[in-house]
Amino acid sequence: MNSNKLRQLYLDFFKEKAHAVISGASLIPENDPTVLFTTAGMHPLVPYLLGEKHPAGRRLTSAQKCIRTGDIEEVGDRTHHTFFEMRGNWSLGDYFKKDSINYSWEFLTSTQWLGLDKNRLAISVFEGDEDAGFDKDAYNIWAEIFEANNLPLERIAKLPKKNNWWGIESGGPCGPDTEIFYWTGDANNIPGSFNDDNDFWVEIWNNVFMEYNKKADGTFEILSQKNVDTGLGLERVSAILSGFDDNYLSDLFWPLIEKMENLSGRKYNESEEIKNSMRIISDHVKAAVMIITDPRGVAPSNTDQGYVVRRLIRRAIRYGRQLEIKSELWLKELAEIVLDIYGDVYSELKENKEFLFENLNKEQIKFERTLEKGLQILSTQMIAHDKIRGEKVMINKIDNIDGDPGFIPSEINGTWLFNLYQSFGFPLELSIEEIKKMRPSQWIDEEKIKKEFTEELKKHQELSRTASAGKFKGGLADASEDTVKLHTAAHLLLAALRKVLGGHVTQKGSNITAERLRFDFSHPEKVSPEQIAEIENIVNQAIRNNYQVVCEEMPLKEAKARGAMGVFESKYGEQVKVYTVGHLKEGSNNDFNQIFSSEICGGPHVKNTLILGNFKVKKEEASSSGIRRIKAILEN
Ligand code: ALA
Repeated sequence: MNSNKLRQLYLDFFKEKAHAVISGASLIPENDPTVLFTTAGMHPLVPYLLGEKHPAGRRLTSAQKCIRTGDIEEVGDRTHHTFFEMRGNWSLGDYFKKDSINYSWEFLTSTQWLGLDKNRLAISVFEGDEDAGFDKDAYNIWAEIFEANNLPLERIAKLPKKNNWWGIESGGPCGPDTEIFYWTGDANNIPGSFNDDNDFWVEIWNNVFMEYNKKADGTFEILSQKNVDTGLGLERVSAILSGFDDNYLSDLFWPLIEKMENLSGRKYNESEEIKNSMRIISDHVKAAVMIITDPRGVAPSNTDQGYVVRRLIRRAIRYGRQLEIKSELWLKELAEIVLDIYGDVYSELKENKEFLFENLNKEQIKFERTLEKGLQILSTQMIAHDKIRGEKVMINKIDNIDGDPGFIPSEINGTWLFNLYQSFGFPLELSIEEIKKMRPSQWIDEEKIKKEFTEELKKHQELSRTASAGKFKGGLADASEDTVKLHTAAHLLLAALRKVLGGHVTQKGSNITAERLRFDFSHPEKVSPEQIAEIENIVNQAIRNNYQVVCEEMPLKEAKARGAMGVFESKYGEQVKVYTVGHLKEGSNNDFNQIFSSEICGGPHVKNTLILGNFKVKKEEASSSGIRRIKAILEN
C-alpha cells in the first residue's frame, strides 16, 4: 500500500535528520475550548511554539489525525476531505527557512525518498503586507533550487495573506508560509507558471515560518523563537505516488467506493453526480468513524463534536438515498471497510468497534424515521391543499388533471421547504424529487424554489450567528436553537389552550430549557386527555401551516388595544415588543391575513413555525390552586 509506505518513509526521513518522532494527539483537543477538533499537527504543540521546552527536544516529527469541518459542504471534489492525516516536522527555535525548504525538496524529489517529478512542482511564498514584509528569504532559497534544476522561476508565485499565511484563526503562533504544489494534470501540458485557480495544481505540503504571535486584539508580535511548522497531506501525496489525480482512487478511499458500488449497483464513473455522492459518503463516514472511535471519542448528539458527527452521518444518509442503496444498515457496512483500511494504523478503531457500530446503527434508524416524518408532512400538506381547493385529485391520478401551476400549494415554496429541511433534515433535492412524484414537473418552478430556499438559509445563518454571539438572549436561560423553538411553541400552546379551554386561560409562568418547556396557566380543573389531544392537534396544525412569526415594537397601550396577550406586564417599559404568529398578506411585513397568536414578549423566536417539528405534551398536572402545569417537547 502506498499510503503505508509513505507513512513510514516520512518519519524515517525526519528521524534521519535528527527529529524525534512524537505521537499524534487525540482528534478532540485537550484544554482548548476555542476549537472542536484537532485541525493540524501543530495543534498539540502550541505551548512549545510559544517557547515552552518540549521534553523530546527541538526537532520533532509526527503523524496527526485531523478533522476540518469548515467546508463540509464543499467536500466532493478530488482532493478535499473532512478527515485527513497530516505528516509534519517541527523546529522549535532550531533550524529555520533554509533547512526546512531543503528538507522538503529532498524528501519529495530524491529518488532515495519519494522521487517525484521535479518538473511537476510549483511553489508559493508570502508577498508581504502591512503586518509582515515579502518573504524574500523563502523566495531566494526556492529560486536557487529552481535555477539549479533548470526549472522556470515563474513557478514560484508571490501571493497574499489569504494564501500564504498560516495560524489558528483565534490567535497564537503564526507566520508566512511557503506551499508546495504538484501538477496532477496532463504530463504533456504542465503550465510554465503557477496559477492558484487551476485545480490541477494540488497543494501537498505547507511550511510555516512561525515567528509571530497573533494576539487577542488581532495584532501581531514577534515570538521569542523562530519556529518551523509543516504539514504534508497524506491522502494527496499517496494518490500522487500511485499516479492518480483523484484521491478517491487511492488505497485510502477506493475500497469504500467499491463497497458503495456493490451496495447501490451504480458505478463511480457513471456520472459526475454519482461520483460526487460516493465521494461525500465515503468522506463523511470515514470522518464519523474517526471521531466516534477516537480515544476521547464522541457519539452523535446535538452539541459540539457530537453535532458534527450527527451532521456527517445525516449527510451521508441523504446522499445514500440518492444512490438508492437498498441495504438497511449500510453505514455499518461502510464503517467495517474503514476499519479494514485503518485498523492496523490506529488501534483505537478496533478497540472501540462495538461503540462505533451501535452508534451508527442507532443514528441511522433515528434519522431514517425523521426523514419518513418529513415526507409524511410534505404529502399531508399537498393532500390537505387539494382537499381545501375542492379538487378531486388523488395523488396517483394526477395525470388526469389539466396543467394548473396553482396546484402546488402556495405555501410549499422555498421558505417552507427550508423549514422542512431544518426540522427534519429533509434536503431540498429530495423535496423537489418528492413533489415531482406528486405533480407534473412543468408545474414546478425549481429556480424560484431554490432561490427562496437559499435566501432563507442565509437569513437563518445570520440569525444563528447573532444567537451564538449572545446578543439575542431575551428572557431565556440560553438562546440555543432548541430553546428558541420551544419558546415559540409556548406561544402556540397558549393560543391553543385558549381555543380549547376558553378565554379565561392566561399564562402564569413558564420555564424553558433546550429539552422541554414547562408552562403554567390559569384553569380550574384537570385538562382531559381528549382536550390534550385537541390542543396538540391545534398546535401541530399551526406548525404545519408554517406561520410567520413577526416582531413589532409599539407602546404598551397600543399592544393591549390590539389584543396582544400580555403576561408579567409590569416587567416591561412603555415600549414593548409584540410577537405575532400568523399568515402575512403577500408582500407585507406586518399586515396579517390570519392571526394565530399575538403576545407581548421579549423574544427571541423562530421566523417560521414549520421548523418546530412535532409538538407533544408529556404531562399535565396541578401546579397550585387554580393553576395547571403542562410539560411539553418538540420532536423531530
Ligand atoms: N499547520 C500548517 C497547516 O496546517 C502546516 O497547513
